[in-house]
Amino acid sequence: MTVASQPEPPAEDAAERVERRWAVVSTSIIGLLVFLAAFAGVHQATMPQSRVETVDPRTLHVAGEFIETNLGSAVEPDGSVTVRVVGQQYSFTPQCIVVPTHTLITFRAASADVVHGFLIQNTNVNLMLVPGYVSTISTRFASPVESVMPCHEYCGSGHQAMWAHVRVIDKTEFMRLAKEQRRVSCVAP
Ligand code: CUA
Repeated sequence: MTVASQPEPPAEDAAERVERRWAVVSTSIIGLLVFLAAFAGVHQATMPQSRVETVDPRTLHVAGEFIETNLGSAVEPDGSVTVRVVGQQYSFTPQCIVVPTHTLITFRAASADVVHGFLIQNTNVNLMLVPGYVSTISTRFASPVESVMPCHEYCGSGHQAMWAHVRVIDKTEFMRLAKEQRRVSCVAP
């Protein structure tokens, strides 16, 4: 007695089934990635920068936005604060940054020589300073705090000594200082 077995489907059918299945899987993966990128961009605003600002590192100190007298914290007409910082081997200028609490702070930073890191500890302020480009990031500080800002990109033999202070002070006190000085900064303690 013989057992009736299912006839084997032709090989082309099996291949087509596998191809179709794989097409569905790969299309789903692409769809998921597109969804995640759109979600991150629209919901969390983490799209790649829509604009790139360039600056000539060779003339950084002699002309334009990043000359020494323009560095530090400045109050804008809309009440926000812009902090301009230059990183160079092996220090930041200014060495001590002062910013107010409860205010929109925009950091604008540039490198005068090589790639440096720009990180304010215990915050989400984390940038790379790439020569030729202006790096920007905006944030707010909820309470007065003293923080350090180490360079976190290896930039040469003095890298480990390259860091600045960040002093977040009460908004009223900051605005008082800003009335007296065009650019606010502090001397490193
Ligand atoms: Cu600058 Cu490391």
